[in-house]
Amino acid sequence: MLEKKPIDFYYFSGTGNTYLIVKIMKDSFEKQGFNVNLKPLVNFLEDEFNDKHIMGIAFPIAALGTYPICWEFLNKLPRTNATQAFMVDTLAEFSGGIIGPVREILRKKGFTTIGAKQIRMPSNYFVEKKREEKNNQIIRAGKKEAQKFVKDIISGNSKWGRMPGFSDLLSFPSKSGNAWKLMRRLASIRLNKQACTKCSLCEEACPVNNIDLEPYPIIKKECQLCQKCVGVCPTEALICAFSKKSASRFFPYRAKGIKAEELID
Ligand SMILES: Cc1cc2nc3c(=O)[nH]c(=O)nc-3n(C[C@H](O)[C@H](O)[C@H](O)COP(=O)(O)O)c2cc1C
Ligand code: SF4
Ligand code: SF4
Repeated sequence: MLEKKPIDFYYFSGTGNTYLIVKIMKDSFEKQGFNVNLKPLVNFLEDEFNDKHIMGIAFPIAALGTYPICWEFLNKLPRTNATQAFMVDTLAEFSGGIIGPVREILRKKGFTTIGAKQIRMPSNYFVEKKREEKNNQIIRAGKKEAQKFVKDIISGNSKWGRMPGFSDLLSFPSKSGNAWKLMRRLASIRLNKQACTKCSLCEEACPVNNIDLEPYPIIKKECQLCQKCVGVCPTEALICAFSKKSASRFFPYRAKGIKAEELID
């Protein structure tokens, strides 16, 4: 059985899928008497880390790995004396097994890795059809998996598997700046000026301060394609697309039930 220590649950969520899972897990832990502190992993400060607590980590899969901001967080974590850690990621289809490389980072820092789970959620990338019913089904199944994962963590039945070599190889590109340059060349965030009200929500939400309002949003060069700006825009003025022409093919995505304000740290 997991000892009842406070849980510091660090998370990043672009469009709310991961945040939804984090909220479900927090609720499930709290029903079992655990105290859970939710902490955005962006701008993590090492001094605030409490190695006497249990650590949770949650993030989305991107480019078979995850966003550079999430890798940065993992690399910034301090060395600990067997602090217990669990992780959850959300993905649309396939990750290549990022849980292996994450486990290695944590083990080298002295963490005790108690469980990892990958949970399928709707895609937030190049959404060509609003598949509301299908998405609801996926989310319902994802919520159940999250609740079961919490039960398994508490009872000591959760696992943290690893495919040596293979998973390191597949998640490696997402750690490289060049891979993200290529991704940005393939598709980038486009603005429909006519729809923009200059409300500044996208600028506030961007986790890497990559948007300037002058007075319309200018997307600068450090975009991590996390889709947060797309997800929070109240007028659907932003979309990730291959070209200006192709922008009308795609729909913005934000997880059902998650408010834009909840995605602004
Ligand atoms: C740039 C980008 C890359 C992605 N790459 C993958 C991927 O390699 N594999 C996958 O299964 N899903 C991928 N996805 C989908 C997301 O992982 C998935 O929709 C996730 O639940 C989004 O979580 P969030 O709403 O918390 O941001 C990608 C999404 C984006 C925006
Ligand atoms: S959130 Fe949307 S409407 Fe508001 S400034 Fe950004 S693009 Fe314009
Ligand atoms: S500009 Fe948008 S997609 Fe790019 S990093 Fe900022 S919030 Fe994410």
